Amino acid sequence: MTSTPTRWPKSGPSWLKVIGLLILPAVAFAYPAGHLAVNHEPSLEDDSFSLEKRAAHILETITLIDGHNDLPYLIRVELKNKIYDEKFTFESGLLSHMDLPKLRKGKLGGQFWSVYAECPADPETQIADPTWAVRDTLEQIDLTKRLVEEYSDDLKLCGTVACARQAFEDGKIGSFMGIEGGHQLGNSLATLRQMYELGARYITVTHNCDNAFATAASTVAADGQDKGLTEFGHEFVQEMNRIGMLIDLSHVSYQTMLDVLAETKAPVIFSHSSSYALANHHRNVPDDVLRSVAENGGIVMVTFVPFFLEVENPSAATIHTVVDHIFHVAEVAGWDHVGVGSDFDGVGVVPVGLEDVSKFPALVKLLLERGATDEQVRKFAGENILRVWSEVENYSWALTSAGEKPSEKTWLGRKWTRADMSMPFMFDDSMGNRIPGKTYP
Ligand SMILES: *[C@@H]1O[C@H](CO)[C@@H](O)[C@H](O)[C@H]1NC(C)=O
Ligand SMILES: [Zn+2]
Repeated sequence: MTSTPTRWPKSGPSWLKVIGLLILPAVAFAYPAGHLAVNHEPSLEDDSFSLEKRAAHILETITLIDGHNDLPYLIRVELKNKIYDEKFTFESGLLSHMDLPKLRKGKLGGQFWSVYAECPADPETQIADPTWAVRDTLEQIDLTKRLVEEYSDDLKLCGTVACARQAFEDGKIGSFMGIEGGHQLGNSLATLRQMYELGARYITVTHNCDNAFATAASTVAADGQDKGLTEFGHEFVQEMNRIGMLIDLSHVSYQTMLDVLAETKAPVIFSHSSSYALANHHRNVPDDVLRSVAENGGIVMVTFVPFFLEVENPSAATIHTVVDHIFHVAEVAGWDHVGVGSDFDGVGVVPVGLEDVSKFPALVKLLLERGATDEQVRKFAGENILRVWSEVENYSWALTSAGEKPSEKTWLGRKWTRADMSMPFMFDDSMGNRIPGKTYP
């Protein structure tokens, strides 16, 4: 099955652009209040119609990028990754939060798709022993690539900022992949590098389980010890800096946040977290970390997960609560360090007013209504994450062009196996020093 052309024009013929240029100054003149002040007094310019026009103009000129969506995981658990079947009605609509019609309505320009695979049931086992997590991650990467290919009139896979910008110019939704936890790498730096080769562009340091690199927020929430980054975790951060992988701190413990921010030379992201000061949940970002993120040049992409918006009463969370969190991050870290990471398709309940991806324009409009300037909203929508990603790319280029070699460090607790068979020695001191032989049944 191939999809019928469904792309919507982001940039029209050139004569339209000329008319646009003539209209633009008039538009700018019509909304001076928004350009000048935060929390300005309501005025005639701020009526709903003009807010809508300002929101529409922003979404036509900057790619709105969402930091986290779990559609690939839904396809895994409901369809065992089969998308060519008629059952997968991505084009005509799904009950969940994301499909093509909703995407078009939501004016999304770029999406980080989570190629998530679960933490193994036994937290101890997964650090030392091989698990299925790497295989399952490869399957989710394969699925996401097939999805983008199947709907290539609308989606485009991108591994660079230049590609993300070009996709938007071409009227397509830039599609980027994020891996949600070091367990999905089998705790291996070699696997990390290969995941980059396959197109993954961010790694969440932990999901809801500790790994060889760091302590997870969920461990601390369950009264476990917060050990932060391990020694190997420091190496992991340096290697991500070197290869140009975005480091995601959503899901990690407080100490891990601090340790990564002290170690990294490139900006970090929180792909889907909100403000701890407004909602005391371990998945959220405390104010001191928000200030460090500002110093680091990174970004906190505010999430819509009701449990992280309203800890006491999640069902009371609305689009206004989300805007409260966005303004808080902006007040503490600055408008250069805030973005959006919905977690659509990853949670059963969503805030009132943000039911699915079609509602992004309503969010943009509400930010304007609450006093954000067009410039601030443009940063929030896409300029910030593209700047962060570009800095990560540039730092990686600097390191690799200086000849920095891949790290060969491995986890000390790692179990190595080999078959017990006769092989030649490369060195005369290897007798008795090789990985111990094992007889397979
Ligand atoms: C990264 O480097 C490119 C090329 O030199 C430059 O155009 C771009 O502005 C840099 N990005 C950032 C965020 O500084
Ligand atoms: Zn998550």
